[in-house]
Amino acid sequence: MKSRILIIGACGQIGTELTIALRNRFGADKVVASDIREGNEELMSEGHFELLDATDFAAVEDVIFRYKIDTVYLMAAMLSAIAERFPAKAWHLNMTTLFHILNLAKDKKVKKVFWPSSIAVFGETTPSENTPQLTVMEPSTVYGISKQTGERWCEYYHKKYGVDVRSIRYPGLISYTTEPGGGTTDYAVDIYHRALKHGNYRCFLQEGTVLPMMYMEDAIRATINIMDAPKKDVKIRSSYNLGGVSFAPEDVAQSIQKVIPAFEIEYEPDFRQAIADSWPGSIDDSEARKDWGWEHKFDLDAITKIMLDNLKLQYS
Ligand code: SER
Repeated sequence: MKSRILIIGACGQIGTELTIALRNRFGADKVVASDIREGNEELMSEGHFELLDATDFAAVEDVIFRYKIDTVYLMAAMLSAIAERFPAKAWHLNMTTLFHILNLAKDKKVKKVFWPSSIAVFGETTPSENTPQLTVMEPSTVYGISKQTGERWCEYYHKKYGVDVRSIRYPGLISYTTEPGGGTTDYAVDIYHRALKHGNYRCFLQEGTVLPMMYMEDAIRATINIMDAPKKDVKIRSSYNLGGVSFAPEDVAQSIQKVIPAFEIEYEPDFRQAIADSWPGSIDDSEARKDWGWEHKFDLDAITKIMLDNLKLQYS
């Protein structure tokens, strides 16, 4: 019987923690981690690991066949800031991998798919406070366009071919295990590293730039919860809004100053400011709460404490 899980992009910021969470839950033998590059030691040694280029259909199909995979988490993607530098490459990676997995699900080679979307699907014309699930969506970044398009295809494959694909629009994610790779919200992770190493931070976003954010443990729980939910409860097959906390760089600075009073922040916005300005400040996630019981746990001060405590251990 097929019963294994494949994580594509397992060495990335989300993939690393998702792999560990799924191994803890289902047992190491049931989870296959894969990535185009090698990742941290623990991830590679404590269970199945495959080097995999997810744009290569035959290679993906082979792993799915060999390990008897029935569920895929497709976490490989090029994030917002990097994608602006390599638009064609980002489009190719973000879309080709999704089509490969959707087509394998359509052909019944896998049963269930998780694919992450993002707050980047929204744009300047979207209402920015408490952004509703259904609203104007005119993304202005390559990454946002790829995620919005992906959402349309997920819903299409569900309605047309019955593919069981589930998705969440992640906000900016904060974690200490693996660093983020080229997003606009990365400052909210970098700032903790710099606070401990140098006592100061030069932020690439301007004061007052409020963005929706979330601690990784909340994001992982949301991911596992939506995948656990009975099929009939997952009513939205594009992607669910997901809210956690909302803050601006100066709010993180103040939160850090409660622990490290001498910490200083200065602002030097770059091209990422325009990306951040096009995204909402806060998210209405009532559909996720209603349909599959979503609830966030961590507020900013709790996140700050966890980040500083754990990074301190890593640096010492
Ligand atoms: N964290 C992502 C980024 O900044 C948003 O999904 O690109």
